[in-house]
Amino acid sequence: MSASVPASASEPASAAVPGPPPVPARASAPSSAELLDFVRRAAADTDLIASLPLDPEGRTWVRLEGPGGSEAWLIGWPPGTGTGWHDHAESVGAFTTAAGTLKEHSLAARLPTDGWKTLELTEGVDRERRLATGQGRAFGRNHVHEVLNESPAEHAVSVHAYYPPLPQIRRYSRTGDVLRLEHVERPEDWQ
Ligand SMILES: [Fe+2]
Repeated sequence: MSASVPASASEPASAAVPGPPPVPARASAPSSAELLDFVRRAAADTDLIASLPLDPEGRTWVRLEGPGGSEAWLIGWPPGTGTGWHDHAESVGAFTTAAGTLKEHSLAARLPTDGWKTLELTEGVDRERRLATGQGRAFGRNHVHEVLNESPAEHAVSVHAYYPPLPQIRRYSRTGDVLRLEHVERPEDWQ
């Protein structure tokens, strides 16, 4: 997720609800561009977005049927909430803001995938982007980011899609330029 994906295992996910019509069956895996197209169409579906329960105390999410077997989520972000730093392993993905504004901090660097506990980031790898309602982005494998709703008052809603469905999420803490692997979540932790 992403994000963008559920941060904790404790909240039960609702049953999958239909998003926009899925792309017809096909032989090849969906690209990040196709996932971006999907999340944009889902974000424009006002009935779908309105169906997400919002909770001022914490993030909420509903799983959607993504295209081509992808994993998709509708996520609600109360003011001041965020994901913390994480990656999505080998999955590619996309997300877009459907209501409110989200901030993404990301790293323009390809990190070693395994075998390290702390990593000192080189200067200049930090990126920041503001995603207002209707704005989204796609990302490739091993994308490291955190997503935040910095608004003091406004809820945000976003749509996320990942392919292949997330095998794991690595979560990091960050102090200055040092990224530290804190733990690895697997699907059974958040479904
Ligand atoms: Fe994410």
